[in-house]
Amino acid sequence: MTSAVASDFSPHNRQPLPAVLDPARMPAHVALIMDGNGRWARQRGLPRVMGHREGVEALKRTLRLCSDWGIGALTAYAFSTENWSRPGEEVSFLMTLFERVLARELASLEREQVKIRFLGDLTPLPAALQQRIAEATERTAANRGIHFNVCTNYGGRSELVAAARRLAEEVAAGRLLPEQIDEQRIASQLHTAGDVDPDLLIRTSGERRLSNFLLWQLAYAELHITDVLWPDFDQDALLTALVDYQSRQRRFGGVDSPRHPGLTSATLG
Ligand code: FPP
Repeated sequence: MTSAVASDFSPHNRQPLPAVLDPARMPAHVALIMDGNGRWARQRGLPRVMGHREGVEALKRTLRLCSDWGIGALTAYAFSTENWSRPGEEVSFLMTLFERVLARELASLEREQVKIRFLGDLTPLPAALQQRIAEATERTAANRGIHFNVCTNYGGRSELVAAARRLAEEVAAGRLLPEQIDEQRIASQLHTAGDVDPDLLIRTSGERRLSNFLLWQLAYAELHITDVLWPDFDQDALLTALVDYQSRQRRFGGVDSPRHPGLTSATLG
């Protein structure tokens, strides 16, 4: 495995879409809960943090493949609001890791047209990391390739609380009527504003929880849970998730699929 996205992303290295996948039915947005780094390390007799380091390689692989295969957005859960309760050493390792990876990979992300954003309350993050994040966000803002959202100090409930507060302030100031608050207006206040909702959520290491991730945005997502530990997540694992996704009949609560108008209530039976 190379350590830089640059070589992974070079155009001659692009992975063609496997024939087993239908290009017309690819998810527009994939969400990721990258779980199992600690267990991966423990299985090898390594410190937990080595699992996180290897997890970065898995994330780079996945981002590259999603970009190559025409997926428009990838949103990964890197650090939750609850993760601060981990041992101090692990938290500082993760903060330093994020900062170093950003510094190392920014030029290649820029070159490869990846548009990176960090979603969450970034204010408690170390100043040096905040600075890297601001730089990466700014330098990739006009990029036209895959949207890569890294959820950092992110929590689905606190995101909704913040959105509710902002809307309440608008109402209190007389700029908004309560009846003007609809789903679109709430979505516009979330960190993910501007991206379509995820079509597919992949969670590794066999856990079957949402863990406070994208609570609003995942309302109609298809869920793919795999026993693969995150650092082992590779092309085969992603392909399996996408084949599973394409095998589902999406109904969005009704009988027809708005994303796939060819699928009618008649064909669904
Ligand atoms: C969960 O595994 C993983 C995390 C909390 C960290 C995920 C972060 C990365 C993969 C690095 C991302 C890097 C960048 C630059 C965004 P766990 O520790 O909960 O594993 P366990 O459940 O086996 O203990």
